[in-house]
Amino acid sequence: MTPRHFLTDDDLTPAEQARVLALAAELKAAPTSVQPLQGRTVAVLFDKSSTRTRVSFEVGITELGGHPMIIDAGSSHLGRGEPISDTARILDRHVAAVVWRTGAHSRVTELAEYSAVPVVNALTDDYHPCQILADLQTIIEHKGTPAGLTIAYLGDGANNMANSYLLGCATAGMHVRIGAPEGYQPAPEVVARAERIAAETGGSVLITDDPVAAVTGADVVTTDTWVSMGQDAEGAIREEVFPPYRVTRELVAAAAEDAIVMHCLPAYRGKEIDADVLDGPRSVIWDEAENRRHAQKALLCFVLGAA
Ligand code: CP
Ligand code: NVA
Repeated sequence: MTPRHFLTDDDLTPAEQARVLALAAELKAAPTSVQPLQGRTVAVLFDKSSTRTRVSFEVGITELGGHPMIIDAGSSHLGRGEPISDTARILDRHVAAVVWRTGAHSRVTELAEYSAVPVVNALTDDYHPCQILADLQTIIEHKGTPAGLTIAYLGDGANNMANSYLLGCATAGMHVRIGAPEGYQPAPEVVARAERIAAETGGSVLITDDPVAAVTGADVVTTDTWVSMGQDAEGAIREEVFPPYRVTRELVAAAAEDAIVMHCLPAYRGKEIDADVLDGPRSVIWDEAENRRHAQKALLCFVLGAA
């Protein structure tokens, strides 16, 4: 039987996503109530740095009764070029699932192609779907059912977070607005996928280069670093292009009166978001960071057939 992978946000149908999010809430209330991983190990591989993803998967897998095997790329043969297909067929003889943070998205799809156990994307250059599950859990906690709510993302509209907001929030029936400058807007293929999902869920998609139009009346305002991991060489040019998209108090004032502010973190205060917004009363970033654990535990239960 083909294992259930989670590589992009739209690997979950709207109903499946709702089921995972409902379980995430249950697991937050009772963290060790479900333990499908007793006596089993999950491999968690990192080709890029991480704080939140590493901590939340390591603690979460432990709470599910399992053992998290954290592997840093540099210390494995995968890191020096052993084929992904061979690695997949080694790991799946030992572990219940493989969680991987890497660069090119094709690397996780290749691992999944050869793996007999579920593969979970813990961030690639193109998608960060675990983060969006945590964001949706946070939105539900603060604003109720996400369907019909408007989320505005400002900044790099072509990065992993923007793509995942488009797909994951459209799946949840949200109106997704991306405010990003020309040259940094999402690929037409991702927009088309999000539009197809939104047509089914009652959501919508708007891509604009006008930051005020993006946030006006929004229920959720969110952003991400202007320079993602691996893009350091482009840092200087990006810092010239993105300042109009900085999340400031003035910009947030154009959102709904009770709008919440999110950021996947790590954040660069004074760049993509001002400190008084990130650390201000509308910010729900610490809940968002905590929810990584609950949402990922629910997802692991789902892909392992235990939800
Ligand atoms: N948001 C997020 O994925 O954080 P880390 O890079 O610290 O894992
Ligand atoms: N877009 C960011 C997200 C970090 C969690 C990056 O890829 O570096």
